[in-house]
Amino acid sequence: MLNLNPEQLKQHATPFYVYDLNLLRQTLQSAQQEAEKYNFHVHYALKANANAPVLEQMRQHGFGADCVSGNEVKAAIENGFSPKEVVFAGVGKSDEEINYALDQDIFCFNCESKHELEVLNELAEQKNTVARVALRINPNVNANTHKYITTGLEENKFGINAWELESVIELLQQLKHVELIGIHFHIGSQITDLTVFKNLCTRVNEFQEWFLARNIELEHINVGGGLGVDYYHPEENPIPDFAAYFSLFNQFLELRPGQQVHFELGRALVAQCGTLISRVLYIKSGVTTNFAILDAGMTELIRPALYQSYHKIENLTSEKQEVRYDVVGPICESSDCFGKAVMLPETNRGDLIAIRTAGAYGEVMASAYNLRDKAQAIYV
Ligand code: LLP
Repeated sequence: MLNLNPEQLKQHATPFYVYDLNLLRQTLQSAQQEAEKYNFHVHYALKANANAPVLEQMRQHGFGADCVSGNEVKAAIENGFSPKEVVFAGVGKSDEEINYALDQDIFCFNCESKHELEVLNELAEQKNTVARVALRINPNVNANTHKYITTGLEENKFGINAWELESVIELLQQLKHVELIGIHFHIGSQITDLTVFKNLCTRVNEFQEWFLARNIELEHINVGGGLGVDYYHPEENPIPDFAAYFSLFNQFLELRPGQQVHFELGRALVAQCGTLISRVLYIKSGVTTNFAILDAGMTELIRPALYQSYHKIENLTSEKQEVRYDVVGPICESSDCFGKAVMLPETNRGDLIAIRTAGAYGEVMASAYNLRDKAQAIYV
């Protein structure tokens, strides 16, 4: 059961997000400690949650920033990250976003296509500067995760495919305003089977050989993010197994002298510390089930509707006998459902419901559909 006092939570207007800063700190300490063992650099993927108190914790724990939009680069810098620790990925960076990042002199652009390299070169030339780039390579590794969050297969829009690399290298020789400093990979998200990362290491090693054969030195190897969390057992597994994750890369990545390894973790750092709290508005009996209708919906947390994802649901204020409910939101969409056939203590209007493991890709993906107000965030 959620380790927060329901009496305290009751005082706030619902729905709202509550973040457990203690758990966040413990998680970041663990990640940083395990990464440090191998001198690995971790960049926090802001897309998972860009709230200022979260960013402050990231900074205090020494993480860099992984951004996928100009506004994320801006948020990172405004929240005190050094531009020297900012990486910028994304298949569709606009000229305005590139110009902003060039002005900030960020550490590295993770470039996803030849065309992007040409545009970046042109914009850097106009500013009489040189942009540092890592090539985002699509390694064609299956992440064994939901198809919407799989990014490292050839059918996905992300990265440069292996068969294009030869021509990319030729192009780079002509571009005088971009400097190749490394290679980048990100194969997907919510990856729970660590052998996927082992397969990624094997591919990275093959690409390293390819570059070496052409006498191209790469100082930086960025293997992206993707480490999954336990949505089913947030109590038993509040902190992901960072020790196993980083030691796997240490074991299987073949590095050349002086190479630096970078990671871009999002979900694993913030998912478990966030909970969406909602009140029950109505109980309605259906033909085969009861509906518990909440005041939170897919506008606050879209993951179940978009990825059919599981989030543990708890009633914080009832201890009665368990009954089966479809737990749904108020939005005019049948996909606005947090869970089907969920066993909950008998639930009534006014009960507080916790939807767990919502710290990553929850609040940031909220929408104003149905002209809904934005849910507040509180920190404990
Ligand atoms: N690096 C890049 C280039 C990415 O695109 C992503 C996530 C990450 C790092 C961080 O991945 P993580 O460590 O969080 O798995 N909205 C979806 C997840 C989308 C992930 C997009 N890219 C969800 O709610 O499951």
